Amino acid sequence: MFHRFFKQWKWKRLARQLRKPSGKAGKDTGLLMNLSNRYMYALTLEQLALKEGDQVLEIGFGNGHFFQQILSAAEGIHLYGIDYSPLMVAEAGKEHAALIQSGQLQLVNGNSDTMTWPDQYFDLIFVSM
Ligand SMILES: C[S@@+](CC[C@H](N)C(=O)[O-])C[C@H]1O[C@@H](n2cnc3c(N)ncnc32)[C@H](O)[C@@H]1O
Repeated sequence: MFHRFFKQWKWKRLARQLRKPSGKAGKDTGLLMNLSNRYMYALTLEQLALKEGDQVLEIGFGNGHFFQQILSAAEGIHLYGIDYSPLMVAEAGKEHAALIQSGQLQLVNGNSDTMTWPDQYFDLIFVSM
């Protein structure tokens, strides 16, 4: 009985972290997603078929592990990301400071429910979770 409750509690904790990573466990969850989601990203990229100069938005980018892969898919891509976890935005920002500096990447800490970009601003918007 106790064992069942414990297992359920762990799954709930993981689900909470996957939904909105935070704290030390949030960093670890980000790393876990880097491993578990790489095939999903490969498949997503194939489907997106990005073209030169595309303006692309990723919703819920986690720690941004796949940004470089996305940007390498075609020349001159401008990538934007929005994620409501302050931890994930900070992690991704640290890891990709050079891309942000170069203007290829812009990150926003916010909820996809309340985005402020104008209509038709992006060629493609995607989520990979
Ligand atoms: C399961 S993780 C996936 C991360 C990454 N896309 C990957 O596959 O490795 C979900 C991410 O989306 C973010 N997220 C979930 N709902 C969101 C929303 N409504 N607006 C912005 N970010 C959201 C979370 O903070 C988290 O970083």
